[in-house]
Amino acid sequence: MKIGVIGAGYVGTTTSIVLAKYGYLVTVVDTNQEKIHKLNQSRLPFYEEGLEELLHEYLLEGRLSFTSNIEDFIKQCDILFVTVGTPPLEDGKADLTYVEEVVSQIARFMDDYKVIVIKSTVPVGTGDKLNDIMMKELSKRNISISFDIVSNPEFLREGKALHDALYPDRVVIGCESEKARNIMKELYKDVDTSILYTTIKEAEMIKYASNAFLATKISFINELARLCEGKGVNIKQVAIGMGMDKRIGSDFLQAGIGYGGSCFPKDIKALLALASQVDIPMPILEAVSYVNQTQSDWFMEKVKQVLGSLTEKRIAVLGLTFKPQTDDIREAPSLRVIDYLLNNKATIAAYDPQGSEHVKKIYPTVKYTLTPLEALEGADAVLILTEWKEILEIDWKHAKSLLSNPLLFDGRNTLSPSKMVELGYRYFGVGNF
Ligand code: NAD
Ligand code: UDX
Repeated sequence: MKIGVIGAGYVGTTTSIVLAKYGYLVTVVDTNQEKIHKLNQSRLPFYEEGLEELLHEYLLEGRLSFTSNIEDFIKQCDILFVTVGTPPLEDGKADLTYVEEVVSQIARFMDDYKVIVIKSTVPVGTGDKLNDIMMKELSKRNISISFDIVSNPEFLREGKALHDALYPDRVVIGCESEKARNIMKELYKDVDTSILYTTIKEAEMIKYASNAFLATKISFINELARLCEGKGVNIKQVAIGMGMDKRIGSDFLQAGIGYGGSCFPKDIKALLALASQVDIPMPILEAVSYVNQTQSDWFMEKVKQVLGSLTEKRIAVLGLTFKPQTDDIREAPSLRVIDYLLNNKATIAAYDPQGSEHVKKIYPTVKYTLTPLEALEGADAVLILTEWKEILEIDWKHAKSLLSNPLLFDGRNTLSPSKMVELGYRYFGVGNF
């Protein structure tokens, strides 16, 4: 089986490397020539630990290749994974332009049976829509070639992409043909996990439902953190106590300044847009989104209250990416925080091990430092926005001597409040006390 992956982003690159690891011959295509050029030189176009070494190895062995020639690529591959982006449109709906374009191209160039595996996150009903596009394009060519569309949503997390793709909690395969089902079964034969076979629509919904549920846990704990703070209760202890109940589980109960990233915010918008198309109100999901949108402002109001005013205050911002171990800043809470600080006329020095270059393009007036300690020099307050190891491992005793004011706001509740107070800091977490 020769496998093709269309879209060399976070998902496509990871998928191709993992499939090559299983021993398949994999070719990846992308319209972005710069990305393809980089990948052909064994360089990842984004930061994700563990991938680059494998990329180099599999390129050398010839198991993995990258191209921008879509026509030959489609003709040569038997199974085509679609991993292009589905960003939000202004009204929240998922933009399916890229997926539809790819599927049209497959129909235009294919000359034998193909399994088209949709890994991009797409709204319920997209499988049917793509099927129609395929039929229409093939009829323009006046030929009949069979194909199957499969929905195989991706559940990897950035920062843990390789691990999650190698050891998934489950694989969901939405498939309505015996032939394609057998091919997918063979493809995943070495993956040691449960495989759930569903209809295409069910698979499409499982992806959105899973992300929405995880986001709900986060917004729930963040809302509760606000109440805990008002009542002098430590949210961390509450989360531990809740998580000990197996029915609740301890994951995704870390209170903080809210979720970001390329998935949760956009997928919740898309699910809400889908619901409104069929007039189904989703008040829980609306609230999840509302709590998240207001969480960083709630946090910043506290910063402002403690400092009195932010005007001309020097603020050290530690962490810019939406989570550690990635360079992705899509929907990162740091962007809202920087906006808030600039609107309040504060001066910012920011540090992030991977995200600074991307944020600099949006906020060029902020000072970006190469080390966390440089950002702390003369600061009136420190804000921790991403729990990077480089930030948590700061020598906080020495750091205190660099600050104008030992005031620390931990937006991820990752440092020990008692330790920081012992060192002489005024420490504020999220929902602590
Ligand atoms: P991305 O933006 O990093 O990459 C998408 C790639 O597709 C880009 O390199 C782009 O140039 C390429 N592309 C666009 N049109 C193309 C075309 N016609 N032909 C070839 N290449 C084309 O996206 P991503 O973060 O990898 O996400 C891809 C999909 O997977 C989205 O639907 C997303 O919701 C979903 N997803 C993402 C994650 C994640 O952690 N990033 C996790 C699970 C699911
Ligand atoms: C998410 C899903 O977890 C993954 O299954 C899906 O495929 C893509 O979307 P990702 O966005 O990469 O993955 O990272 P994740 O670890 O889920 O974190 C998302 C956001 O939630 C981050 O901003 C993180 O800081 C925040 N978060 C996570 C919390 O605020 N509290 C938590 O307890 C967990």
